[in-house]
Amino acid sequence: MLVNQRLLTALFFILSLVCLEIQACPPILPVIAGAFTGIFAAGRAVGSKRSQERPATKFKGCYADSVNARDMGKASFHSDSLTHVLCRDACKKANMKHMGLQNGTECYCANKYGKYGQISTLKCDKNCPGNEKETCGGYMANTVYDV
Ligand SMILES: *[C@@H]1O[C@H](CO)[C@@H](O)[C@H](O)[C@H]1NC(C)=O
Repeated sequence: MLVNQRLLTALFFILSLVCLEIQACPPILPVIAGAFTGIFAAGRAVGSKRSQERPATKFKGCYADSVNARDMGKASFHSDSLTHVLCRDACKKANMKHMGLQNGTECYCANKYGKYGQISTLKCDKNCPGNEKETCGGYMANTVYDV
C-alpha cells in the first residue's frame, strides 16, 4: 500500500512536471507541481542550513581549567567573534568529540574533558562575542558541549 502511494505520488509529480514543460496542463496541475517543487526546495534548504548553523545541542556543563596543563589541550583557535557554531565546526573538522569555550574567545577541541572537575555554571559567565545569547566559558572555565 505504501509503495503504491509513493509510486502514485512520484508519477503524479512527473506528470505535473511534464505538463508544465509542454504548458498543456489542466489549471490545477501547475499549482500542485509548484507545491511539490517548493516542498523539495524547502527540505533541501532546511537540511543544508541545519548542518551549517545548528548549534551544538548537548551541554555538558562548566568545567575548571588550569593554566599549566590545559584540560582540553591547546586551544584550537582564538576568535574575537567566537560563537558555538564556529567552535563546533572547527572541532568537527578536527574529528573531536567535545568542544570547550573559554574566557569568551578561546575554542578547545578534545576527546576528553573534566580533569579539574565540574564547577558551577556561574563560573562560565562570559557571553560569546559573536553571539551574545551564547555562553563562551569564563576565566579558567570551559563551557563544554558534545560536538
Ligand atoms: C580573558 O579575557 C579577558 C577579557 O575579557 C582578558 O583581559 C584576559 O587576558 C583573558 N585571560 C586569558 C587567560 O586569556
